[in-house]
Amino acid sequence: MFETVTAPEPDKIIRLMGMFAADPRGDKIDLGVGVYRSPEGKTPVMAAVKAAEHRIWTAQDSKTYVSLRGDPGYLDAMRRLILGDGVPEARVAAAGTPGGTGAVRQVLETVHRLNPTATVWISDPTWPNHPAIIDHLGQARRSYRYYDAQTGGIDRAGMMADLAGAVRGDLILLHGCCHNPTGADLLPSDWQAIAALCARTGAIPFVDMAYQGFGAGLDADAGGVRHLALTLPEVLIAASCSKNFGLYRERVGAVLIVTEGKAAAEGVLAGMNRQNFAFPPDHGARVVQEILGDAALRMDWRDELEAMRRMMEGNRRALAEALRGETGSDRFGFLAAHRGMFSLIGGTAAQVETLRAGHGIYLVGDGRMNIAGLTPDTIPRVARALAEVLA
Ligand code: LMR
Repeated sequence: MFETVTAPEPDKIIRLMGMFAADPRGDKIDLGVGVYRSPEGKTPVMAAVKAAEHRIWTAQDSKTYVSLRGDPGYLDAMRRLILGDGVPEARVAAAGTPGGTGAVRQVLETVHRLNPTATVWISDPTWPNHPAIIDHLGQARRSYRYYDAQTGGIDRAGMMADLAGAVRGDLILLHGCCHNPTGADLLPSDWQAIAALCARTGAIPFVDMAYQGFGAGLDADAGGVRHLALTLPEVLIAASCSKNFGLYRERVGAVLIVTEGKAAAEGVLAGMNRQNFAFPPDHGARVVQEILGDAALRMDWRDELEAMRRMMEGNRRALAEALRGETGSDRFGFLAAHRGMFSLIGGTAAQVETLRAGHGIYLVGDGRMNIAGLTPDTIPRVARALAEVLA
C-alpha cells in the first residue's frame, strides 16, 4: 500500500525542529517551536508537577479505565481554571483530549459532523495546524484580517469588516491569549465587539486556549473567553496544559462547550472520543487535577508559572532595548507590547533563511520568534543579527 505513496510534508514548525536537531553548530539558537526555556536554556519539569507525580505514584493503586470523557475531577478543575466561577456548571459540557491539538481536532470534527456547511473563520495569520485540520476534515474556511505588520498591532477595522461576513452556525476561531504566531492580543473592547458580532450574526466563537498564564496572568488571559461565555448561548473552547503546566509530551487537553444542551453535548463528545481514541490520556490530567485541587501545590504552580511569564516579559524588553541600540530606532518597539511566547518580527522568507543559514538563529519561516528561547547570553547576538539581516 505504501510503495507508491508520497509522504506529506511536515508543517513549517515540525520541519524546523528537524533542521535544528540536525544542525551540528554548537552555537545554534532555537527560537522555533513553542517550548518554554529557562534562562539556562532548559525546559524544566515544574516543581508542583514533580510533587504531584510523586503523590500519584505513591497513592495510585489501579490504572483501569476511567471514563470516555476523562476524570470528572480534572474536567471540573479545568472548567474553573478557564471559565472561573461566573459561568454555571450546568451550562458547561467537557471532555478530556490528548493535548490541545486533540481538543482542536475534536471540536472541529464535531462541527464537521453536526454542520458540514459551516465556514471556519481563522485569523490571518494563525497556527499552521488550524487550517491543516480544517482542510483535512474538508470543512470550508476563510481568513479574517488580524495582524497589521506596519504597526505590529491588530487591524481592528479589517478584522471586524471581514467577520461581518460570518453567518449563523459559522465558527470564528480566536486565540484566547498569546496569539500564535503574532503575539498581538485582543483587548477587552475587542472581545466585547466580537461577542456583539456573534450575537448579531449567530456565528459561534471557538477559542483556542493554549497559553493561559503566559500573557497577562491566569485570570486576565481568560477575560475574553469568560466574557463570551457570559454573554453568548454557545462557545466552543479547546484548552491545553502543555505550556502552562509544562506537560508537553503527556498530552493534556480538554474541550469545553458552553451550551444550554449540556447533556447532549457531553454525549457527542464521549462518542467522538470513543471513535477517535476511546479514553483520553490520564496521567498528565491527574497531575493537573492534583495540583489545582491542593492549595499548597496550586500556589507553588502559580508562582512558578508567574516567574516564567515574567521571564518572557523580561526577554521582550531586553530584546527591544538591544534592537533599539543596534538600529537607533524604535522599529522593534512592538516586541515589548506583545504578549506570550511569540512575536512576528517581520522579514521575508529569504531573510529568515539567512538568519538560519548564516547566523544559526532558527525562526519559523514566517518570522515567528519564540521569545522564551532567548537567554541573557543570546539576546545581544540575536539583536545584532536581526538588525543586520532585516536592515
Ligand atoms: C508551536 O506553535 O510551536 C507549538 O504550539 C507546538 C506545535 O505543536 O506546533
